[in-house]
Amino acid sequence: MDMHMPHTSRLCHLCTGCMTSVLGPGRSASQRDWWLPEEHGCHGEARHIEPKELRGGEMEADEINNLLAELTAQDETDLLEEQESDNGSDFSEGDEENPEDSGTGGVEVEDIEALVTDVQDHVFGELRMPYQLVQDIQNGWQAFITSQGSRDAVGEAIYAAIFDAAPELQHLFKTARSIMAMKFVVGLNSLITELGNPAQLKVVTEMLSFQHLDIQVTGPRAAVFRDAIVELLEMELGSALTPQVKAGFQAILNYSAGAMIYVRREYSDRIQLLRTSWLAAMHARLGQDEEKDFTNDDKELEKFRNDEGLPDPNSKRAKKIQATKVPENFNEMFLFNAAVMGFHTGIEWMMQVLDQFENMVLNASNVNRLQEECDVLALRLIKIKEPIVFSEFKAIMLASLRSLVPKVWGVEHEVAWTWFWDNLERMIKAQIGQLKGQQRAVERFIRNLSEESVPELCRDVYRRFFEQTPSGQNYFKQSTTRLYFIAGKVLELCMEIYQRPRDMVEDISALGLRHVGYGILTEHFSPFVEAWSQAIYARNVDEKTCASLRWSLTLISKTLVRTIIEGSTLVMRAINTNSANKFKKAIMVTARNQREQELLKVTVGTQSISPLYWAIKSGAFNVARAMITDLLTIRADRDNYYFGCDALFERHPDILQECCAVRGQKLLPTLFDGLIWRSRSSVKKLRRVNFFVKHLIQNSDNTFNTYLPAIVKLNDPKLIGHPVVSFVFNLLWTHLARYYFLRSRLLFLFLVLMAVTSQSILPRINPRAESDSQRIALFICRVVLYFVDLLPQLLEHVRLTVRDCKQRSLFYVGGFVPAPAYLNNLPRVGQLALIFCMLLMFIQEPILACFSNMHGDFAGSGLFTTHCPEAERRLDAYSVVSELTVLLHWALLVDLCIFSLRFCCYFLTCSRVLVELLHYGSAVLFIILAFSCGIGAFGSTIMDFDSIPSGALSLLKIVIGMFERNRFEALREIPQIYTVLVIFIMLTLVFLGSLLIAQIAGAYHNFLVDMQNYAVLFRSGITIDTVRSVRPKKWAAFLSSLGFEERIEFNEGDVGLAGGIQILEPANLNPTLVETVRRYGGSTSVDTPWPDEDALDRSSLEARLKHIEKLLVRATKAMTGEKKVGSEDSQGGSSASFLGSSAGAGSSASAG
Ligand code: HEM
Repeated sequence: MDMHMPHTSRLCHLCTGCMTSVLGPGRSASQRDWWLPEEHGCHGEARHIEPKELRGGEMEADEINNLLAELTAQDETDLLEEQESDNGSDFSEGDEENPEDSGTGGVEVEDIEALVTDVQDHVFGELRMPYQLVQDIQNGWQAFITSQGSRDAVGEAIYAAIFDAAPELQHLFKTARSIMAMKFVVGLNSLITELGNPAQLKVVTEMLSFQHLDIQVTGPRAAVFRDAIVELLEMELGSALTPQVKAGFQAILNYSAGAMIYVRREYSDRIQLLRTSWLAAMHARLGQDEEKDFTNDDKELEKFRNDEGLPDPNSKRAKKIQATKVPENFNEMFLFNAAVMGFHTGIEWMMQVLDQFENMVLNASNVNRLQEECDVLALRLIKIKEPIVFSEFKAIMLASLRSLVPKVWGVEHEVAWTWFWDNLERMIKAQIGQLKGQQRAVERFIRNLSEESVPELCRDVYRRFFEQTPSGQNYFKQSTTRLYFIAGKVLELCMEIYQRPRDMVEDISALGLRHVGYGILTEHFSPFVEAWSQAIYARNVDEKTCASLRWSLTLISKTLVRTIIEGSTLVMRAINTNSANKFKKAIMVTARNQREQELLKVTVGTQSISPLYWAIKSGAFNVARAMITDLLTIRADRDNYYFGCDALFERHPDILQECCAVRGQKLLPTLFDGLIWRSRSSVKKLRRVNFFVKHLIQNSDNTFNTYLPAIVKLNDPKLIGHPVVSFVFNLLWTHLARYYFLRSRLLFLFLVLMAVTSQSILPRINPRAESDSQRIALFICRVVLYFVDLLPQLLEHVRLTVRDCKQRSLFYVGGFVPAPAYLNNLPRVGQLALIFCMLLMFIQEPILACFSNMHGDFAGSGLFTTHCPEAERRLDAYSVVSELTVLLHWALLVDLCIFSLRFCCYFLTCSRVLVELLHYGSAVLFIILAFSCGIGAFGSTIMDFDSIPSGALSLLKIVIGMFERNRFEALREIPQIYTVLVIFIMLTLVFLGSLLIAQIAGAYHNFLVDMQNYAVLFRSGITIDTVRSVRPKKWAAFLSSLGFEERIEFNEGDVGLAGGIQILEPANLNPTLVETVRRYGGSTSVDTPWPDEDALDRSSLEARLKHIEKLLVRATKAMTGEKKVGSEDSQGGSSASFLGSSAGAGSSASAG
């Protein structure tokens, strides 16, 4: 009859009569004996109860009966009828039972003592004890609590007793001591409280058992626990613990342990069933057949709806939902059914459950995880205002599952899901009950912490933690303030988990992943939480607050530990040791299609961490380099090429910037090396080279790569000289930027000509007697200058300034004057200076000044005259700014030199050397100032040195060789001044002059080495600015011309990877001996790892050594003229001597 349970369990209501008749005095009875009433014919009332037990206990039996009745259309009809008839008798009898009466039919004390010496795990029924005994046990328990002073103390005592009694079980105690102790008390207390109500006791025991699903409870282990607890009770209660009560305690403990073993053994099939049916339901795509079933199921839903008195499914609302979409997975089906069945009012809380339901189902056997989910769900549910009716969720859940997997659905599914939900319900309800008022308690505690008490608390926490776990000090090496900061964060987390549990789970998962990076071992968490608990407890905080903080911290710690366990991959561990070898070993076992994922994304829940970025950020550069090399190694089997370039840039578009930030670590060269492939063979003295530069040029949305400028900003000529980088910038320059740059420069060239014409040529032709056409031409030139040259530049600079100020991107001139970041660029500064000059020019403009008085009474009056008296007054200032404007225009044309790298090199060299000249000039100026002041103090009356300014001017003339020789000779008359002048000349001309030459030579030499690269760098900066201003349409056309979508060949006929550009380079430019594409034979399955590359390398190295040896032998022979006799032997002999190995030693002799 029982199709689901391998063990048939039958229960008799225990009574004194049964016991005595079955056991007889002195017989060592087992519980099995009590619970097989047919064997002893107990009152003829023996009955089967297993269906009731299987489905979660008597409390929900009616509900299950209803559901089972609905399934009569299915094949299991007969079976169900039989079960129902069994249940019917069972329930009726159960209903008659009165816990108060159980004392009359209970077990006698001495019998219990005899019966419960062993754990009974073959059956899980109800435990009934005599009423008096129940009372005595409960009193005894109360007395024990009173003797200890508090529940916490009881927990602590029990923990200590068990911990000391079973050293071999100590590894099971993973939770913090105080938490574990509390759990013991809560568990035992709930058992003892429900002792008088066998049905409820069974429910509580089942829940406890459910929470022990992943702990291996065994008879001997349970005995250790039991004996430790009972001994403790004996010790504390002394004579107050009568033998009967002691036996009662033993019975309870054995009962619960038996239940745990039973549940673990018997329910594993159910958990498997839950999992498979859930996966089927989540991925059910309804095909034709299933749609038919689904329609059938609709009828069932309707029946259910009628039974439940729910609204008409033909209601507008239901129709609307049905019309919208056919539900294809559990969540959709659930919402659909909820609407059809009319449960729309309570949907908010159901959505919260749905959000976590999958996690709960898939972790049904992982009690810690399940408990964690229930805790979080309880936190979410207590915030819901609407009434929560758990049975509604169950009804919709079952209906939805039935609809989704109608073909496989059976009674066993019904039973398993009901059982699962009932247990969940109990766990959630238990948490909700416990959570009341906790949030307020925690908030109050944290808000009331004074500024002085926080560091004190933190100190106490770390002190306790380090005392308990000295190795913890190895992790917390930071300054005390940082430790206080972390402790403050921990307190905040404790509060926030109550306030926004859903988001906090995400945040804590992310934090957990960071702890993976810190390399924290999970066993440290329990002492850490314990340290917190003790430190808070020591502050005389009320029990509620203590418990609330402990609860939230435990939940956080559980989530952290889980994240660490799930996120601690071998790669992450290798990062912690910064060992490239360990990394290689770790990655070796990874399937070839998972390799990129392993390096780029470790996911826990919805949070993920990138091992590569972690390696970079935590300074594990050896591993980071190895990772980049691994990702950018092209591997191939017969079917596929594997290259992590796309994955790398898609996951980390800003990888260039990250690598630039740690430029000293040579990550960028490693990265760029991986983007180039050179063929080993050459055809017609040309070699194929593939540059996989797609992601260097474009972002994922096909725009210009935002991070490429970071390379130019590094200002590193060596890096810009890397073949990949120079290829990219060359490509951008020649195919795109050159044209745009030339266009913009041509316009500027025209403006320069305008400036020269208007400022230097036209005003000089027939001054004051200009013709009208000349004046009109001048006017037009100046209009062009102000409106085509000045205005756009002005607007552009205003735009850039506003942008930088808004983004607060500033730099400080001389370390303290803030300036917009775009001005950190010499040409931009030149432009700004030009704008200022032209603005001044505009203000002083003579044509404007004379505009109202063009035809006045003055020489040269007339149309657009510049000679009116108003203009004459401004002429001096105007001439100066005009001169500067023309000069600046020419200066800004200098960047035209980038059209030729040679000119560019020369220009850059000059600018470099100019810096040295400036240094020299400033030193000379200082000396001139000093000497002119000194000579001024002497009080000379000689014309050239009669004041400080005239002295300084004369000294300057001496330096630049303009001081007349005869005047110098005249100074001989005044030896005081003459001597000073000689010293001055020695200093400035001899010493500083020689230094200047040496410096110029040195700077020139240094610069010369990378001159070409500096020129490319200069051009790259301009290229980037130009490409940024290219219109999107042109950019798209440029991208499509590169053909990144097409796969390019490696060697002829071998079509390789997309995302690259192939060029042909002279074969002698970069001799390439090693093929960089690693090709492997064997299986091409994507799930298999790549063969051990190191081993392959070694073998190939050996092979190559052998080959070289052979060549050497032949060469030696050819040189010595030795005849080819017994070549094999002689080769062997040489080989032995070359390698120094014993192989072929005999041959060596023969060769000799
Ligand atoms: C419930 C347990 C814990 C919580 C809530 C927690 C929380 C935190 C928080 C909030 C941070 C700062 C995060 C950041 O800025 O990246 C942090 C950092 C850290 N934690 Fe934990 N932690 C816990 C347990 C532990 C344990 C047991 C250890 C080691 C024995 C540990 C070691 C560290 C280390 C080394 C850091 C990095 C400090 C730094 O470099 O600045 N944590 N933890």
